[in-house]
Amino acid sequence: MAEEGTKRVMMEHGLREKGYRQKKLASSLVMLCVTIMLTAVMMSLLIVGILSVNFIKHENMEEADEYLNYLVNALKVPLWRLDTETTRDICDSLLSAEYLVYIEVKDDLGNTICKHDKKAAHFVIERGSSVYYNSVPVGSLLFRISYAYEIMTFMAWLGAAILFVCLGLTAVVFTVYFFVQRNIAKPLGELLEYMRMISEGRYEIPAAPFKYEEFATIMDFMTEMASRIKAREHSLKEITDRLRREVKLRGKALEALRESEEKFRAVMYAAGDGVVIARSDGRIEYVNRAAEVIFEMKSEDLVGSCVCDLFPEISREKLRDYVCSDKTDFDQPLELTLWSGDKKRLDLEITVSKALYGQEDEDGRVIMIIRDISLRRRMEKEREEMRDHIHRLQKIEAIATLAAGIAHDFNNVLTVIMGFTELAKSACKDGEICGYLEQIERAGTSARDLVKQILSISRPGPSTLSDIDLKPFVKETVKFIRSIIPSTIQVELNMEDDGLVIRGDPSKIQQVIINLCTNAVQAMEGMDEGILKINLYRQNLSAPTKCASGFLPPGEYVCIEIADTGPGIPSEIMDKIFDPYFTTKKSTGGTGLGLAVVRSIVSGHRGDIAVESTPGRGTVFRVFLPRAADGDDKLTSWDRVYEAPGKGRGQLVVFVDDDPLIVDMAKRALESWGYNVKAFTDSEKAQQYIGKNIGEVSVLVTDITMPGIPGHRLLEYAKELKPDLPVIVCTGYVGSPFEKYLKKHRDLKLVYKPYTIESLAGALSEVLNKLAP
Ligand SMILES: Nc1ncnc2c1ncn2[C@@H]1O[C@H](COP(=O)(O)OP(=O)(O)OP(=O)(O)O)[C@@H](O)[C@H]1O
Ligand SMILES: [Mg+2]
Repeated sequence: MAEEGTKRVMMEHGLREKGYRQKKLASSLVMLCVTIMLTAVMMSLLIVGILSVNFIKHENMEEADEYLNYLVNALKVPLWRLDTETTRDICDSLLSAEYLVYIEVKDDLGNTICKHDKKAAHFVIERGSSVYYNSVPVGSLLFRISYAYEIMTFMAWLGAAILFVCLGLTAVVFTVYFFVQRNIAKPLGELLEYMRMISEGRYEIPAAPFKYEEFATIMDFMTEMASRIKAREHSLKEITDRLRREVKLRGKALEALRESEEKFRAVMYAAGDGVVIARSDGRIEYVNRAAEVIFEMKSEDLVGSCVCDLFPEISREKLRDYVCSDKTDFDQPLELTLWSGDKKRLDLEITVSKALYGQEDEDGRVIMIIRDISLRRRMEKEREEMRDHIHRLQKIEAIATLAAGIAHDFNNVLTVIMGFTELAKSACKDGEICGYLEQIERAGTSARDLVKQILSISRPGPSTLSDIDLKPFVKETVKFIRSIIPSTIQVELNMEDDGLVIRGDPSKIQQVIINLCTNAVQAMEGMDEGILKINLYRQNLSAPTKCASGFLPPGEYVCIEIADTGPGIPSEIMDKIFDPYFTTKKSTGGTGLGLAVVRSIVSGHRGDIAVESTPGRGTVFRVFLPRAADGDDKLTSWDRVYEAPGKGRGQLVVFVDDDPLIVDMAKRALESWGYNVKAFTDSEKAQQYIGKNIGEVSVLVTDITMPGIPGHRLLEYAKELKPDLPVIVCTGYVGSPFEKYLKKHRDLKLVYKPYTIESLAGALSEVLNKLAP
């Protein structure tokens, strides 16, 4: 098992591939012992062999020397005697000795007496010597002796010794092997097994008694290690579980973070307000898309720059103080104005707040919400203007209502004054008194015009609308104006050739031109010279255009432009000039109604008026009137031709008015014109009379606003009885609800108070003439 584990470890670590071979410890130890012992034995044998051979050789050399002396002594006599026989016998006898392998004896002449050679070649010692007899050389001797036998004997002994040693060694080796196997390899194997158990996570190691202390100590350590590993593993497992839980939580947190970041980005992208996040030193860290649009810069260019460069009002110090202090407000909210690249004004509202995120050692950040309030500002301004405008209109309305309220009575009074003046004039013979009466009449006329002007501010009055070609119309008006203004003022008239037709009331348009020219001339009065410039041209407005009464819708207009070179209008009164009764000419009798009337008339024509003035250089008024298609019924002249009133022929005129003075005046006057007048101040009585005498009644002249039966009921009653009865309606109200009766009964004639006797008589003769066959 241990082996398998080890093999697995080896495999896992790829050690086998790297050339590592596993061996058994016991075998290795045995092999080591065998190798060491064999080497020692071999070395010993080699040394012993060499020493023994040398020793044997040395011994034999000494013996050879002794043997040489012996032979020399034995052969010196036979050789001196030349006794070859003896010499040979001696030699032959010597040959019986095993160790003598060669011998050669020569006489003094060098002749060989005897020679024997046993051809032995190994382990041989050679000796030779001359033989002397009494110092006389008698011959020579050469022999060789062999010590191979001793060597062989020694070798045999050595072999036996080797064999014995090998046997001993083998016994030792086996003993060592079994010892190692039993006492080292086995406990090691057990230890390895335990280690494998530990490596596999099985820490319950059985208590194993080891014979040797070392293994027991290792075992103790291993047990200790196992319990520690177990404890560690346990805590590791806990840590791992905790980490896993944390990782899971963190994963969820990361997912939530990612989602929140995506949400943040989406919100920031969609936000209409600019968002800038900056550090306490003013360095910008983040801007959203709206901020890019506001500053007309890319995020890359904005990030890193300083908010102080964008808003010089916000200094670095102020930002840092704010971020580092406990202050919660930053002069909230800041309102700044920027000018964009194309000189467009940007009104911004900036809300600055702290964002305490980031590293602990860092200062907080500031978040700036930048709102483009240009549109809101514009709208506020427009609303303000509109409020002023409505206020002015309400004022005009109030004045108009008041004026309309008093106009009726005032006109009645004027009618009486003018009527009686007229009567008095016709009856007067005294020239001086006639002059006074004329003065009264003139004053009455201007009073009437004044009332008319007051009324026309809010009530455009009856209009005889027709297509007017303004070119000849303006030309004629300017001709008239030229004749009445001082010669120091030069008049210039420029007109386009065609397309200058509008639909309107000629007398009112004339009034507009006269009022504006009068103002211009008055402005240049006292100057050495001045220019009154009147331009007439077509104007196509492609966008709503700001004018005195609000915004004029886009469309095709004809513009009457009246410019002067006067002192101009001071900007502080510019807003007031169209208000009724606003005048800077009180001392010279200005009423302050001129421009109010102009605006009222122009509005009644669905147009508007604009003014432009440069103090010291002059003023330009532009009147825009909607263009009409060129028609055939264009009026080139605005003067209505009234027929001279004819005298009555005793026709019965029923005259009804609640004002007895008017009734008295009218009765006298009409009777003087030849009419038979039946006058009533009580409308109910008048109705009764009409009911009874309808056949004789030629004309009904009635007031409208009366106590009892109002005029329109009376005339309807009369019309029911006699549908073709001519009716003249006298009224001091302009634009009253009565106008709808005018439309219903086209044969009604309307006479506005205050009227002159002549105009009433004219109206009478007109309606009666219509009936005449
Ligand atoms: N062309 C102009 N140049 C300078 N100021 C002008 C001009 N037109 C009008 N004004 C100013 O506007 C004011 C109002 O004019 P408006 O015509 O309504 O009244 P008025 O001229 O003062 O009186 P009235 O028209 O009754 O004579 C004038 O008093 C004058 O201050
Ligand atoms: Mg005026």
